Amino acid sequence: MYRLPDSPTVTSFNTIGILTSGGDAPGMNAAIRALVRAALNQQMKVYGIQRGYAGLLNADMRRLSSTSVSNIIQRGGTILKSGRCEAFKTADGRAQAAHVLRENGIQALICIGGDGSLTGAHLLTQESGIPVIGLPCTIDNDIYGTDDSIGFDTAVNTALGAIDRIRDTALSHERLFLVEVMGRESGFIATQVGIACGAEMILIPEYPIELESISYTLATNRKAGHGSSGIIVVAEGTEPGLTGRLAEQLTQHGEEPRVCILGHIQRGGSPTGHDRVLASCLGVAAISYLMSGLTDVMVGTVGRDLTPAPLGNIIGHRRHDPRLYEMVTMLHK
Ligand code: ADP
Ligand code: F6P
Repeated sequence: MYRLPDSPTVTSFNTIGILTSGGDAPGMNAAIRALVRAALNQQMKVYGIQRGYAGLLNADMRRLSSTSVSNIIQRGGTILKSGRCEAFKTADGRAQAAHVLRENGIQALICIGGDGSLTGAHLLTQESGIPVIGLPCTIDNDIYGTDDSIGFDTAVNTALGAIDRIRDTALSHERLFLVEVMGRESGFIATQVGIACGAEMILIPEYPIELESISYTLATNRKAGHGSSGIIVVAEGTEPGLTGRLAEQLTQHGEEPRVCILGHIQRGGSPTGHDRVLASCLGVAAISYLMSGLTDVMVGTVGRDLTPAPLGNIIGHRRHDPRLYEMVTMLHK
């Protein structure tokens, strides 16, 4: 459970808008539910903007009531749908978005999304003056300014369940598996699930490892009596096909790896209890922040505390945890 802020109320809002943007993540619905019910509790009207910023530009929105968000806390995905919008990356696009908000009487916007979406929200408020509050939500968990993002815990557990199954057949056939998880520029999913599944190696974009080093580690493990089966968890990285190429290279080094790409199963599924509680706390805190006059911040976590983290700090920064990565190399067999 997170410690909720006791922010003083200094302002009130009649009508707010909520949207989900970018890569979806399990727990988005729990966040929407908490935001709607916390806002209704303050006699606000709530509009659900559909399909992210593209929907905002098209005024694609609907009033949300308490019953609109019944029975969704356990559902993956987002009832508001999500998406990407190149137009919103332009000042003109954001000016159009601000116009739509004002035209519909929406006085503040809550954005649930990853670093890209939250960057967009920052620029929107900087350019229009319309208050915005962000909720960090991405399975990558790479948002600067918060320890935790909605969806990460569920994605890790989804990947872990799959890898434990792969481990069974790897042991039966004494095979090496390269298992690719999501994370283009950050290795948090790979690191966390690699530690949890006892992976023989974890390959992440932050710490590139030479092929020779991988072959040497595998050979050393065999000599030390760890057998020939093994799991190498690979973060997908920014170059498509990375894991397949690695498998080819290892084959040329005398290995016989199998490849398993987990892909988008990590983006779906029923959110874990952790993500449901995290999303609910962030949603309640977001309404509290708004009414305390805060804007251009996201509800970040520092341990069990919630803290207003400036959205502007996200630009040019990505969350980094060197101690976690050191632990990874320590735990390799
Ligand atoms: P995520 O929020 O999961 O990181 P993306 O990076 O794909 O997802 O961003 C989702 C949307 O957020 C983009 O399609 C765009 O509409 C908006 N966005 C992303 N980056 C920016 C930016 N630098 N400036 C303005 N809007 C942005
Ligand atoms: O940002 C979350 C994420 O799932 C990344 O881990 C992944 O690389 C990317 O989104 C996939 O994007 P798309 O939505 O295009 O499938």
